[in-house]
Amino acid sequence: MGVFAEVARPAILTAGRSDRLRRTAERVPATRRVVHRFVAGETVTAALDAVACLRASGRLVSIDHLGEDVTDADTADTNTEIYLALLDALAARGDAPEATDTARPLEVSLKLSALGQALPRDGEKIALENAHTICERARRTGALVTVDAEDHTTTDSTLSVVRDLRAEFGWVGVALQAYLRRTYGDCVQFAVGGARVRLCKGAYDEPAALAFRHRDDITDSYLRCLKVLMAGDGYPMVASHDPAIIAAAAGIAAETHREVHDFEYQMLYGIRDAEQRRLAAAGNQVRVYVPFGTQWYGYFLRRIAERPANAKFFLRALTERRE
Ligand code: FDA
Repeated sequence: MGVFAEVARPAILTAGRSDRLRRTAERVPATRRVVHRFVAGETVTAALDAVACLRASGRLVSIDHLGEDVTDADTADTNTEIYLALLDALAARGDAPEATDTARPLEVSLKLSALGQALPRDGEKIALENAHTICERARRTGALVTVDAEDHTTTDSTLSVVRDLRAEFGWVGVALQAYLRRTYGDCVQFAVGGARVRLCKGAYDEPAALAFRHRDDITDSYLRCLKVLMAGDGYPMVASHDPAIIAAAAGIAAETHREVHDFEYQMLYGIRDAEQRRLAAAGNQVRVYVPFGTQWYGYFLRRIAERPANAKFFLRALTERRE
């Protein structure tokens, strides 16, 4: 591994959990300029504007209200209310579903830790109730819901909540992280009966005992997992910007006799926009994950940690401010 992966990446991800650094970063105007590359804005209206542009170019969307690691029930309730307002606003804009059950154009992505999962008493139950409320509203709106994957301490709880939600809302998707050694087994379990699975590499700093840490090992694990998903009866969502994975996905789909509407590509807002457009123009389903809100700090630092060029760009923006 290089110096960036070994030293800078874990340090940036640790900084992503610091309240003190968060407060400092939020005060610096230069940070905000860089943040806007990855975050659609702070309000529902800003998110809907970004969604309109993406939809106009034939892309599907998944909208994420930023926030995580909530430590009080009131904030978990507020986050739930924001999702409900977002879904109502999507319904009011009339971007009605016209596609298949699995590939409806509108989706919201949730982090259970934003809905109370980490609360000391009944956290998982509270997160389940909040997610259930959001799923009910999504069903009325015709939107999908996918549950994000957070650090490994939450995986069992998150998969348990997803199983409960799926008993009533079979279309609820789940994100699985290919860097976790357990994920191959989770893919085997989840690649059933139309289940929507978003396979990503994983964005947290995880110990080697639980996760692959080398780039090539992570890519190998990703492709092994993707083969299971593509060969199974679920609906694979290929969440990656990696050219090697995108090229391999098309081949695996062909081998497993999947047509372009039997799976989708997914990328993050602001990352490889031209590639997103190219894939969509070629007739593929491409969904863009659109984060919005004021709690952008953790998400933003994970994007900075993914690429040395981003870290340099960010540091340059900070230095320019002082000159
Ligand atoms: P990789 O990091 O190897 O990047 C491949 C190429 O993509 C780079 O060379 C560069 O060109 C481009 N690229 C990647 N990241 C970039 C960045 N930040 N800025 C600019 N260019 C970049 N993770 C998680 O732990 N839990 C989750 O729930 C999710 N959810 C999720 C949803 C969706 C739709 C996507 C696309 C990703 C996630 N992730 C996630 C993040 C994921 O785990 C992973 O950290 C990033 O996607 C980066 O990995 P890649 O597969 O893109 O490959």
